[in-house]
Amino acid sequence: MMERTSSVRYFEEVAREWDDLRKGYFRDEVREKALDLAGVRPGERAADIGAGTGFLSEALLGRELEVVAVDRSSAMLAELERKFGGHPGFRSRGGDTEALPIETGTIDCSFANMVLHHVESPDAMIGELFRILKPGGRAVLTDFERHDFDFFLTEYYDRWPGFPPGEVAAMFRAAGFASVEEGPLGEVCQAESSAGVRAMVPIFFVRAVR
Ligand SMILES: C[S@@+](CC[C@H](N)C(=O)[O-])C[C@H]1O[C@@H](n2cnc3c(N)ncnc32)[C@H](O)[C@@H]1O
Repeated sequence: MMERTSSVRYFEEVAREWDDLRKGYFRDEVREKALDLAGVRPGERAADIGAGTGFLSEALLGRELEVVAVDRSSAMLAELERKFGGHPGFRSRGGDTEALPIETGTIDCSFANMVLHHVESPDAMIGELFRILKPGGRAVLTDFERHDFDFFLTEYYDRWPGFPPGEVAAMFRAAGFASVEEGPLGEVCQAESSAGVRAMVPIFFVRAVR
C-alpha cells in the first residue's frame, strides 16, 4: 500500500514538469514507432492508458484519431485538459488500469507507454486492454526491459524492474488476444540516480490483435 501511495504522490508532484522530464528519459520516436506498429488510421477511436500529460494522445490527435485518455492522477488529468481539452476529438477520464472507465468493445487501438511497470497487476491491465477493444482491434504496449537499477524503484517509485518481453507477450496471449508479437523497439529509456548512477534500458513492444 505504501508503494502505491508513493507512486500516486510522485506523479501528482511531477505532472507540471513531466513533458520536460520525459524528454530526458526517452525520445519522441517512441510514440511514432508505437503508432506505426498499430497501423493507426484517421477517424479511428484510440485509448491512451496511463496517459500522463498526453505524450501519445498528442501524436494520435495529430494523426486525426479520436482519443480517450485515462490516468489515475488528478494532476496529470488537469494537464491533459489544459493541453487538449479544447480539441473536439479528445476526452480525458480519471480511472485505474484495473477497471478502465471505457465501454467494452468500443476502441480500435489501445496504447500504454511506460505504464505497465507502475501498475500493481499487469495481468489485470492487459485484460482491460483486451476488453475495451473491438474485435480485430489492436493493442500496442511499450515499456522497458528487465533491469537491475534499484533507483528506478526507490527514486521513481516503479512497481516492477521492467519485464522480459516474452513474459508480457504471454500475458497478452493469456488475456485472449488472437495474434501477439513482441520485439525490441530500437529505443532506450535513460535516467540518472541522485548518486550519479547512469542507466540506459532498452524499450520493447508488444503488438496484439483481438
Ligand atoms: C511514466 S508515466 C507515463 C505517461 C505517458 N504514458 C508517457 O509516455 O509520457 C506513467 C503514468 O501512468 C499513470 N498510472 C500509473 N499507475 C496507474 C494506474 N494503476 N491506473 C491509471 N494510471 C496509472 C501515472 O499517473 C502516470 O501518469
